[in-house]
Amino acid sequence: MKKKIITGIQPSGVITLGNYIGAIKQMVNFQEEYESYIFIADMHAITVPQDSNTLHNNIRSLIALYIACGIDPNKNTIFLQSENEYHANISWLLECQTPFGELSRMTQFKDKSSKSENFGAGLFTYPVLMAADILAYDIDYVPVGIDQKQHVELARDIAIRFNKKYGDTFKIPDVKISKSGTKIMDLVNPEKKMSKSSDNPKSVIRILDSEEDIRKKIMSATTDSDCIVKYDVENKPGISNLINIVVSLTNKTVEDIEKEFENKNYGEFKKYVADVVVDEISKIKSRYYELLNDEKTIDDILNNGVKITREIAKNKFNDMKKRMGLYK
Ligand code: AMP
Ligand code: TRP
Repeated sequence: MKKKIITGIQPSGVITLGNYIGAIKQMVNFQEEYESYIFIADMHAITVPQDSNTLHNNIRSLIALYIACGIDPNKNTIFLQSENEYHANISWLLECQTPFGELSRMTQFKDKSSKSENFGAGLFTYPVLMAADILAYDIDYVPVGIDQKQHVELARDIAIRFNKKYGDTFKIPDVKISKSGTKIMDLVNPEKKMSKSSDNPKSVIRILDSEEDIRKKIMSATTDSDCIVKYDVENKPGISNLINIVVSLTNKTVEDIEKEFENKNYGEFKKYVADVVVDEISKIKSRYYELLNDEKTIDDILNNGVKITREIAKNKFNDMKKRMGLYK
């Protein structure tokens, strides 16, 4: 039997080339080997203020993007978290068993709550909802970025504690961290990660950027004055980042690139990087716009996903209630 994986993504704006290389391509590779569940974590998104129209558009856009990027709806169960009410139901049962102190130690909560005085209680209980997302499905591995590791560890602790008290109810999940080699850096400041929330548009390539913008951003990416195309993260972070991008998107190695551009200047190299990125992204973009206009396909995928997952999560919820004495 195939092992199971699940991951959730918050619908918080157009994904970057970093998200695509670091997270999505990874899920596309996993879909052959694992029974995969992917959902849009819209209930997690509302733990910070959202504009309702923007949120709705981001949800549909993210689903279309995922499929356009190669997440195959026949190999993955794709669903919208808020459509499956059992996530919130399970979360409540787990919340009542989760010590306040443990949630207070979550670094993401400490970070986000320190930025505003008026945050909602959902920001605090967010990791329990995440535990419910995972524990409902007897998941083996949870592929996430390093920032989510602590939350997956909390889900493990919650499961272990519940099993001890009420008998074997949950599978204990393991975290699967994406490889650090595929961290794509900011184009203007290659010492920091390329991030969705960057305020300099030149720093970030977004999957829906125009060809012209992509070329401009890559041609003006920060490099150095050496004029040697060589992989050296410490001394040549800009050039190394561009090499990383090309290596992630083609089947060439770092050595192949260094050789190919041995006697060429940065302008020629950047033009090549831009060609590779434009080629990859234009394929995604055309599929994306087709899908976004095909409302029925998106609805069918989500309807199918919620049908499958609601059944599984409902069984888990009923099992939990029985063990806890919540029945007449
Ligand atoms: P976020 O954009 O922080 O919500 O991250 C969503 C996923 O994309 C996580 O699995 C991250 O680890 C991954 N990711 C985000 N930015 C990058 C980047 N610059 N390079 C590689 N992976 C990234
Ligand atoms: N909290 C995750 C993030 O912000 C998204 C998420 C919600 C998730 N539930 C999950 C990831 C369950 C993996 C499994 O990136």
